[in-house]
Amino acid sequence: MGERVAVYPGTFDPPTNGHLDVMKRASKLFDKLIVAIAENPDKKPLFTVAERIKMIKELTQNIPNVEVVAFNGLTVELCRRHNAVCIVRGIRTFSDYEYEFQMALTNRSLAPDIETIFIMPSEEFSFLSSSMVKQAVSLGGDLSQFIPQIVLRCLKQKLKQTK
Ligand code: COA
Repeated sequence: MGERVAVYPGTFDPPTNGHLDVMKRASKLFDKLIVAIAENPDKKPLFTVAERIKMIKELTQNIPNVEVVAFNGLTVELCRRHNAVCIVRGIRTFSDYEYEFQMALTNRSLAPDIETIFIMPSEEFSFLSSSMVKQAVSLGGDLSQFIPQIVLRCLKQKLKQTK
């Protein structure tokens, strides 16, 4: 059997400790975990794709089986390009479930041989979202417990530039 590859797609604008927790857990389950950054212009990301790649590469530098890529288009097509057998998503609360359920079944219709698995991040991160982090930090809130130092630094710098 060849190496087992999984894809963890998301917008990661910016990545939080919750995302990192999912990456660490998922990296233990597969030979290779590809963190796939969706450009997602609809969400009007604060960070460019290049900035998101750089942050996630730094955050995962000690996890040797993590690769970071950016993508446009369908997640399942990205999976095919990388021979991935699985899509990983984090589920934080019950309210995530409906959206994730729809997305998993859509992906299954598009690619029946690719499974989606859900990983629960640690409970202390279960309420985190990138939007909340951006909002709180822009208003001077201290969320240093929930976002990696490098992300906090980049976020403060970015918010200063965009003022
Ligand atoms: N910790 C902290 N926050 C988390 C989290 C965790 N473990 N897991 C999810 N979140 C947050 C994110 O920060 C994000 O917050 P935001 O909305 O405030 O920015 C939110 O939950 C969900 O975002 P994310 O996990 O980045 O997913 P997404 O919904 O933005 O992106 C894609 C989903 C990229 C996977 C999806 O759009 C996709 O598959 N796109 C490709 C097109 C495609 O294949 N379509 C067919 C399938 S439907």
